[in-house]
Formats: sequence, C-alpha cells, structure tokens
Amino acid sequence: MRHANVLLDRDFAIGDTDPRLFGAFVEHLGRCVYGGIYEPGHATADQAGFRGDVLALIKELGPTIVRYPGGNFVSGYNWEDGIGPVEARPRRLDLAWFSTETNRFGTNEFISWCRVAGVEPMLAVNLGTRDADAARNLVEYCNHASGSHWSDLRRAHGYPAPHAVKLWCLGNEMDGPWQIGHKTATEYGRLAAEAARLMRWVDPSIELAACGSTARNMPSFGRWDQEVLEHTFELIDFISLHTYLNNYRGDTPAFLAAPDLMDAFIEEVVAIADAVAARLRSPKRLSLSFDEWNVWYRTRRTRADRVKEGWPVAPPILEEVYTVEDALAFGGACISLLNHADRVKCACLAQLVNVIAPIMTETGGAAWRQTIFYPFAQFSRYGRGRVLRSRLFCDTYPATYYDPRGSIDQSYPIPAAPYLKLAAVAGTAGGLSLFLLNRDLVQPLTVAVEARGFGALTVAEALQLNDHDLAAVNSAAAPERVKPTVLAEVACDGAKLSLTLAPASWNLVALAPQR
Ligand code: AHR
Repeated sequence: MRHANVLLDRDFAIGDTDPRLFGAFVEHLGRCVYGGIYEPGHATADQAGFRGDVLALIKELGPTIVRYPGGNFVSGYNWEDGIGPVEARPRRLDLAWFSTETNRFGTNEFISWCRVAGVEPMLAVNLGTRDADAARNLVEYCNHASGSHWSDLRRAHGYPAPHAVKLWCLGNEMDGPWQIGHKTATEYGRLAAEAARLMRWVDPSIELAACGSTARNMPSFGRWDQEVLEHTFELIDFISLHTYLNNYRGDTPAFLAAPDLMDAFIEEVVAIADAVAARLRSPKRLSLSFDEWNVWYRTRRTRADRVKEGWPVAPPILEEVYTVEDALAFGGACISLLNHADRVKCACLAQLVNVIAPIMTETGGAAWRQTIFYPFAQFSRYGRGRVLRSRLFCDTYPATYYDPRGSIDQSYPIPAAPYLKLAAVAGTAGGLSLFLLNRDLVQPLTVAVEARGFGALTVAEALQLNDHDLAAVNSAAAPERVKPTVLAEVACDGAKLSLTLAPASWNLVALAPQR
C-alpha cells in the first residue's frame, strides 16, 4: 500500500475557475452535428430537429461553452452557405474530412441549439481560405442590431435579436500542414491581427482567441506562438493550445503520466506570452484557451484513408470508444486544467457527441454515456470555485511518453510523476472538492489530507471510477457497464481526511461544512 500526504490552506490559492473552463466542441465532422445534436425525425427530436435524448445528457454533462463549427472544417467553410432558406443552401465538398456538407445546419441553427442547451456559443472564423472581410461580415451578421446589409439579412432570416456572440476563435490550428490554407507564423499573425481589428470595429465587446501551437510536439512550437503573439498581443484575449493524449504503445503508466506534459505545455505557453509582454513592456497577462483536449488515437485517419471513402454525408468517423483507462488519463487532464485556473480561462473538451466524444448515439436509436463522461461531469459540477495550491508528498515514478507527429518518432521523458495527481477546489459555500487520480496500477493509495482554514467538514459525496478491466467500455448494448461507484473508504475528522483509493482509479470527494 502506498501513502500520500496533502496539505491545503484555504488562503493559498492558484486562482478562481472561470465558468468557460468547462467547455466543449461541436464540429461539422462525422456524426457530431448530423445524427448527433441534430436529427430531424428522431423520436426525441423537437420541432427544430434537436435530439432531446442528447440534450438531456448534455445537461447532465454540464458544458458551459461550445466551440463551433470547427476544427479543421472551419478552414474551408463559407459561413454564408449555412444561412437562409434550407432548400437553397449548397452542398459542398468538405476538404478537411472528405465528406459532403449539406449545410442543413448552420450558424442560426447552432445559436438556437445553444439557447436550448443552455450553453454559450464560441464561434470560429475561417482564416484558411477566407480573410478578414468574411470574418467581420460574420460578426456583423451575428451581433449588429439592424440597419446594415448583414444584420438586416439575419433579421430577414427570422432572427430579429442579435445573437450577441462574445467569444471568437481566429481560425483553427493554422500552424498545421494538414490545415486548409496552412500559413507561416508571419502570414497567420498578420492576418489574425487584421481580422481582429475589423471584427472589433464591428463589435468592440467581443473576445478573441488567436491560434497558438496545435500541440507541444509541433516542430514549430514556441517559435510559432512567439511570432503570432508579436503580431496580435494587444488585439487578442486568448492564445489557444490543443492536446490529444494517446496510448499507442500500450504503456499505461506513461499514458496516465501524460497529463503532466499538459501542465508543462500550459506553463511553457504562459512563459512565452509573458516574455512577449515583457518585450512590449505590457502589463497584460494573456489568458489561455485550451480549446481542444481529450484522449484520441485509435480512430486517427490520414488524408489517404479519407480519400478512399469518397464524399459521404455525415459518415461514422472518429468514433473513438473510450475505455476505463482512457477515463483515468482524461481525469488527469481535468486536474491539469484546474491546477492552471489562474491562466487557462477557457477550455473545450473535443468533441461533444459521437466524434471523440463523451456522448454516443445511434442514428435513429439510443444515446449513452462513454467512460469519459463521468470525470467531465464531476469536473464541471464540482470544479467551480477557488483552486488551492496543495503541497503533495507522494512517491513518484519515471515514464517516457510517446507522442509521434507524422514520421517523427518523438518520446518525452517524465522523470517523476507522483502516483497521486490531485486538484483541490474551495467552493463559495465553504465546501471543498478533491479530484484524485491514483496512477499506481497495482497498489491502493492511502491519502491523508489536512485542510487548513475550513473548519469542520463532512463528506457530501464520494465517488470512484475504476474497474478490474481497464479495457471495459460502454456501448448501446451495455450502456452502463462502466459507471462511478461509491467510494466508501473516506473518513473525515474535522478538517482532517483520510481516504483509500483503489489502484488505477479516478476519485471525486465533495466535502461540505459541518452544520
Ligand atoms: O477534433 C478533431 C480535429 O482535431 C479538429 O478538427 C482539429 O482542429 C484537430 O486537429
């Protein structure tokens, strides 16, 4: 049995979690939109074609913002194709995913869906094949009240009130050679700055995220971010970063240690942003938008795979089936985001339904929760508040995480991953939430927590996710094969807690003030 000691003090905080930290992502990709959130004729669909069973699961999952419409898709998207009478909308070849886009669902349908789902929209503009002009027109269409060409067109389309979209992404992964309209940092930096200026002149209240590096393993990571920021620093509110965790080599200890590299990635992007601030003598401390993150590796596809399949409409692609092991690594990523709440103010789980998603559906059939659903729902529900700077005393293990990029075989050392990965969040009502990942695959972990400054606490909820079979999954036939169970081994004596965590387990302990 291993042991860990944790010391917390209510006055020692990292920062407050922004509600936008608990976001997700909907792309025109596979069955995320069609057959996912939107399926006219489905038994649970409303008049607008929004699936009620999916909406119910989304409400339980608890995303706060949803990024749309891509992703790689946005870099070839003409937003004008998705507005106005549906019968008149063009069918287009989508060069990102080699599918046919029918445009039956577009910006207005997305905004209406957001209102029903109770989430804030985050729209991305196309800076791949389009320019600053198309971007500022979209802002005018969405946010200008009336009396101009694009705002009056929105009204004519049946939306008299402005959509008031606050959050905007300036393109997507523009550093990636796979991206439609891929650019150098100089080209992108200048275009993003120009688009930002025009978009803000239309609506000064919007907030903008520029594309940082797609991933930490991009050969241009660091140089790209710095140059983009030199062009855009004073014009934007966020720099973006993305991460997809993998276990290509079947090295579970390294997979579970990989979220520690997310910590490093965040801290490196912060350092670059602050270095640019120093060079500009700027007091601004830029926020980070981690607007794509998840586990994804089994269903990755090359362009050659996509070409072979022709141009299907809403094909079942990137439908990753998540295991218990995936949910553990995913939970580690939630902890990484919480522990950087001071700078990561926005984040999007990629994606929401069917495509590398916590929610799966059958077109015309049922919807169910994947294993990763549970840690996200707990992260969103219990992660609101002030993240505390915990002192952790625990054994560590060395790992080497394999994260290939194209033909480059890249291995990243993680010299000392603590067996316990932990985040602690003090709620506004005097409670405390603990998120705990035991990364020891064999041994249980006893944890002693001293929570100073809280007074006496009592256990409100304690749940664990673990399974003798780390490969267990949920499916249409067995939708609840994997689900959280009660964590019984929690004792609370005043502000001192002791817990026993099962090997390879994700755990959530919510404590309330004793009355
Ligand atoms: O989320 C799937 C894809 O991953 C997105 O389209 C792209 O931005 C990223 O590479």
